[in-house]
Amino acid sequence: MHVPDIIIAIDGYSSTGKSSFAKLIAKEFSFLYLDSGAMYRAVTLFAMRNGMISEEGAVDTGSLNDALQSLDIHFGKGADGWHTFIGEECVDQDIRTIGVSSNVSPVAVIPEVRRYVDTKLVEYGRAGRVVMDGRDIGTTVFPNADIKIFMVADDNVRAERRLKEMRASGQEADFATVLANLKSRDYIDSHRETSPLRQAEDAVVLDNTDMTLEDQMEWIKALIKSRYGE
Ligand code: DC
Repeated sequence: MHVPDIIIAIDGYSSTGKSSFAKLIAKEFSFLYLDSGAMYRAVTLFAMRNGMISEEGAVDTGSLNDALQSLDIHFGKGADGWHTFIGEECVDQDIRTIGVSSNVSPVAVIPEVRRYVDTKLVEYGRAGRVVMDGRDIGTTVFPNADIKIFMVADDNVRAERRLKEMRASGQEADFATVLANLKSRDYIDSHRETSPLRQAEDAVVLDNTDMTLEDQMEWIKALIKSRYGE
Protein backbone atom coordinates (compact mmCIF):
# COMPACT_ATOMS: atom_id res chain seq x y z
CA MET A 1 0.00 0.00 0.00
CA HIS A 2 1.36 3.43 -0.91
CA VAL A 3 1.41 5.83 2.03
CA PRO A 4 2.28 9.50 1.44
CA ASP A 5 4.95 11.36 3.44
CA ILE A 6 2.83 12.09 6.46
CA ILE A 7 3.27 12.42 10.22
CA ILE A 8 1.23 10.04 12.35
CA ALA A 9 0.77 11.10 15.99
CA ILE A 10 -0.37 8.48 18.49
CA ASP A 11 -1.37 9.58 21.98
CA GLY A 12 -3.15 7.83 24.79
CA TYR A 13 -3.08 6.40 28.28
CA SER A 14 -0.23 4.28 29.66
CA SER A 15 0.04 0.74 28.30
CA THR A 16 -2.65 1.06 25.67
CA GLY A 17 -0.20 -0.49 23.21
CA LYS A 18 0.84 2.75 21.53
CA SER A 19 4.45 1.74 20.98
CA SER A 20 3.69 -1.78 19.70
CA PHE A 21 1.24 -0.30 17.22
CA ALA A 22 3.60 2.52 16.22
CA LYS A 23 6.49 0.09 15.69
CA LEU A 24 4.39 -2.07 13.39
CA ILE A 25 3.20 0.98 11.43
CA ALA A 26 6.85 2.03 11.02
CA LYS A 27 7.81 -1.41 9.79
CA GLU A 28 4.93 -1.78 7.33
CA PHE A 29 5.11 1.74 5.88
CA SER A 30 8.90 2.26 6.22
CA PHE A 31 8.38 5.16 8.59
CA LEU A 32 10.68 6.42 11.32
CA TYR A 33 9.30 5.43 14.74
CA LEU A 34 10.10 7.58 17.74
CA ASP A 35 9.05 6.77 21.30
CA SER A 36 8.72 10.11 23.09
CA GLY A 37 8.10 8.42 26.47
CA ALA A 38 11.61 6.95 26.26
CA MET A 39 13.02 10.50 26.41
CA TYR A 40 11.05 11.30 29.57
CA ARG A 41 12.14 7.99 31.04
CA ALA A 42 15.80 8.73 30.25
CA VAL A 43 15.59 12.15 31.93
CA THR A 44 14.03 10.40 34.95
CA LEU A 45 16.75 7.74 35.06
CA PHE A 46 19.39 10.44 34.91
CA ALA A 47 17.70 12.32 37.79
CA MET A 48 17.42 9.15 39.89
CA ARG A 49 21.06 8.23 39.36
CA ASN A 50 22.16 11.70 40.35
CA GLY A 51 20.20 11.86 43.59
CA MET A 52 17.67 14.39 42.29
CA ILE A 53 14.65 12.31 43.31
CA SER A 54 14.06 11.57 47.00
CA GLU A 55 12.82 8.27 48.45
CA GLU A 56 9.39 9.86 48.69
CA GLY A 57 9.49 10.81 45.01
CA ALA A 58 10.14 14.54 45.39
CA VAL A 59 12.08 15.95 42.44
CA ASP A 60 14.88 18.49 42.94
CA THR A 61 13.63 20.62 40.06
CA GLY A 62 16.34 23.29 40.36
CA SER A 63 19.23 20.83 40.03
CA LEU A 64 17.50 18.93 37.25
CA ASN A 65 16.77 22.09 35.26
CA ASP A 66 20.43 23.12 35.59
CA ALA A 67 21.59 19.70 34.46
CA LEU A 68 19.36 19.81 31.38
CA GLN A 69 21.63 22.50 29.90
CA SER A 70 24.35 19.95 29.24
CA LEU A 71 22.40 16.69 29.29
CA ASP A 72 22.85 14.60 26.16
CA ILE A 73 19.85 12.33 25.67
CA HIS A 74 19.31 11.14 22.14
CA PHE A 75 18.04 8.36 19.92
CA GLY A 76 20.62 6.38 17.98
CA LYS A 77 20.02 3.99 15.12
CA GLY A 78 21.24 0.40 15.43
CA ALA A 79 20.88 -2.56 13.09
CA ASP A 80 17.62 -3.51 14.85
CA GLY A 81 16.00 -0.08 15.12
CA TRP A 82 16.37 2.96 17.34
CA HIS A 83 17.81 3.02 20.85
CA THR A 84 17.79 5.57 23.64
CA PHE A 85 21.10 6.94 24.89
CA ILE A 86 22.35 9.06 27.75
CA GLY A 87 25.67 10.22 26.33
CA GLU A 88 27.36 7.06 25.06
CA GLU A 89 25.31 4.65 27.17
CA CYS A 90 22.35 2.77 25.73
CA VAL A 91 19.65 2.84 28.44
CA ASP A 92 16.88 0.86 26.70
CA GLN A 93 16.64 -1.65 29.56
CA ASP A 94 17.24 0.66 32.51
CA ILE A 95 14.43 3.05 31.56
CA ARG A 96 11.80 0.26 31.70
CA THR A 97 12.07 -0.60 35.40
CA ILE A 98 9.17 -0.07 37.81
CA GLY A 99 11.38 2.47 39.65
CA VAL A 100 11.57 4.69 36.57
CA SER A 101 7.87 4.08 35.82
CA SER A 102 6.98 5.30 39.31
CA ASN A 103 9.03 8.48 39.04
CA VAL A 104 8.53 9.47 35.41
CA SER A 105 5.20 11.29 35.59
CA PRO A 106 6.33 13.80 38.24
CA VAL A 107 9.41 14.50 36.12
CA ALA A 108 7.29 14.90 32.97
CA VAL A 109 5.21 17.65 34.60
CA ILE A 110 8.24 19.97 34.80
CA PRO A 111 7.89 22.61 32.03
CA GLU A 112 11.67 22.81 31.40
CA VAL A 113 11.83 19.04 30.97
CA ARG A 114 8.95 19.19 28.49
CA ARG A 115 10.68 21.96 26.55
CA TYR A 116 13.93 19.97 26.51
CA VAL A 117 12.19 16.87 25.13
CA ASP A 118 9.88 18.73 22.71
CA THR A 119 12.79 20.53 21.03
CA LYS A 120 14.48 17.22 20.34
CA LEU A 121 11.32 15.52 19.10
CA VAL A 122 10.47 18.30 16.65
CA GLU A 123 14.00 18.06 15.26
CA TYR A 124 13.73 14.29 14.76
CA GLY A 125 10.32 14.69 13.11
CA ARG A 126 11.42 17.27 10.58
CA ALA A 127 12.05 14.74 7.83
CA GLY A 128 8.41 13.52 7.68
CA ARG A 129 7.38 9.87 7.28
CA VAL A 130 7.33 9.66 11.03
CA VAL A 131 5.14 7.88 13.53
CA MET A 132 5.59 9.15 17.07
CA ASP A 133 3.78 8.05 20.23
CA GLY A 134 3.32 9.76 23.57
CA ARG A 135 0.87 11.92 25.50
CA ASP A 136 1.00 15.29 23.74
CA ILE A 137 2.22 14.51 20.23
CA GLY A 138 -1.00 15.50 18.44
CA THR A 139 -1.70 18.44 20.74
CA THR A 140 1.74 20.02 21.31
CA VAL A 141 4.68 18.40 19.52
CA PHE A 142 3.03 17.99 16.09
CA PRO A 143 -0.26 19.92 16.21
CA ASN A 144 -0.28 19.72 12.39
CA ALA A 145 0.17 15.95 12.25
CA ASP A 146 -1.71 14.47 9.31
CA ILE A 147 -3.20 11.58 11.25
CA LYS A 148 -3.87 11.74 14.98
CA ILE A 149 -4.88 8.67 16.91
CA PHE A 150 -5.98 8.61 20.54
CA MET A 151 -5.65 5.14 22.06
CA VAL A 152 -7.71 3.76 24.92
CA ALA A 153 -8.20 0.28 26.41
CA ASP A 154 -9.78 -1.32 29.46
CA ASP A 155 -7.71 -0.79 32.68
CA ASN A 156 -7.37 -4.47 33.57
CA VAL A 157 -6.35 -5.40 30.04
CA ARG A 158 -3.71 -2.66 30.10
CA ALA A 159 -2.29 -3.86 33.43
CA GLU A 160 -2.16 -7.47 32.16
CA ARG A 161 -0.29 -6.36 29.05
CA ARG A 162 2.26 -4.35 31.05
CA LEU A 163 2.75 -7.21 33.52
CA LYS A 164 3.41 -9.65 30.68
CA GLU A 165 5.90 -7.23 29.13
CA MET A 166 7.74 -6.83 32.46
CA ARG A 167 7.86 -10.58 33.11
CA ALA A 168 9.15 -11.16 29.60
CA SER A 169 12.08 -8.87 30.40
CA GLY A 170 12.73 -10.69 33.69
CA GLN A 171 11.14 -8.21 36.10
CA GLU A 172 8.92 -9.43 38.91
CA ALA A 173 5.81 -7.39 39.66
CA ASP A 174 2.28 -8.05 40.85
CA PHE A 175 -0.94 -7.12 39.13
CA ALA A 176 -2.15 -4.71 41.83
CA THR A 177 1.12 -2.70 41.83
CA VAL A 178 1.15 -2.44 38.04
CA LEU A 179 -2.52 -1.41 37.91
CA ALA A 180 -1.99 1.22 40.63
CA ASN A 181 1.04 2.59 38.77
CA LEU A 182 -0.94 2.88 35.52
CA LYS A 183 -3.82 4.68 37.19
CA SER A 184 -1.57 7.07 39.05
CA ARG A 185 0.33 7.91 35.85
CA ASP A 186 -2.93 8.42 33.92
CA TYR A 187 -4.07 10.84 36.59
CA ILE A 188 -0.83 12.86 36.73
CA ASP A 189 -0.42 12.84 32.93
CA SER A 190 -3.93 14.14 32.30
CA HIS A 191 -4.03 16.70 35.12
CA ARG A 192 -0.67 18.45 34.76
CA GLU A 193 -0.58 22.08 33.76
CA THR A 194 1.83 21.88 30.80
CA SER A 195 0.64 19.84 27.81
CA PRO A 196 -1.68 17.47 29.67
CA LEU A 197 -2.73 14.22 28.06
CA ARG A 198 -5.95 14.89 26.20
CA GLN A 199 -7.56 13.89 22.95
CA ALA A 200 -6.85 16.42 20.19
CA GLU A 201 -10.05 17.69 18.58
CA ASP A 202 -9.11 16.16 15.26
CA ALA A 203 -7.91 12.82 16.69
CA VAL A 204 -9.62 9.52 15.95
CA VAL A 205 -10.20 7.25 18.97
CA LEU A 206 -8.92 3.68 18.79
CA ASP A 207 -10.15 1.37 21.56
CA ASN A 208 -8.02 -1.75 21.19
CA THR A 209 -9.31 -3.67 24.23
CA ASP A 210 -10.46 -6.53 22.01
CA MET A 211 -8.21 -5.96 19.01
CA THR A 212 -5.07 -7.73 17.90
CA LEU A 213 -2.19 -5.82 16.32
CA GLU A 214 -3.28 -7.16 12.94
CA ASP A 215 -6.80 -5.74 13.54
CA GLN A 216 -5.23 -2.39 14.36
CA MET A 217 -3.18 -2.43 11.15
CA GLU A 218 -6.31 -3.12 9.12
CA TRP A 219 -7.97 -0.24 10.93
CA ILE A 220 -5.23 2.28 10.12
CA LYS A 221 -4.92 1.12 6.53
CA ALA A 222 -8.65 1.71 6.08
CA LEU A 223 -8.27 5.14 7.67
CA ILE A 224 -5.39 6.09 5.36
CA LYS A 225 -7.29 4.80 2.32
CA SER A 226 -10.34 6.82 3.25
CA ARG A 227 -8.24 9.99 3.48
CA TYR A 228 -5.67 9.58 0.73
CA GLY A 229 -7.11 6.92 -1.59
CA GLU A 230 -5.26 3.75 -2.60
O1 DC B 1 4.76 5.97 27.12
P1 DC B 1 5.52 5.74 28.44
O2 DC B 1 4.75 4.98 29.46
O3 DC B 1 6.87 5.15 28.20
O4 DC B 1 5.74 7.22 29.02
C1 DC B 1 6.38 7.42 30.24
C2 DC B 1 5.88 8.69 30.89
O5 DC B 1 6.35 9.81 30.15
C3 DC B 1 4.37 8.85 31.00
O6 DC B 1 3.89 8.45 32.25
C4 DC B 1 4.16 10.34 30.81
C5 DC B 1 5.38 10.82 30.13
N1 DC B 1 5.15 11.26 28.74
C6 DC B 1 4.69 12.52 28.52
O7 DC B 1 4.40 13.23 29.48
N2 DC B 1 4.56 13.00 27.25
C7 DC B 1 4.86 12.22 26.20
N3 DC B 1 4.74 12.71 24.97
C8 DC B 1 5.30 10.90 26.41
C9 DC B 1 5.44 10.43 27.70
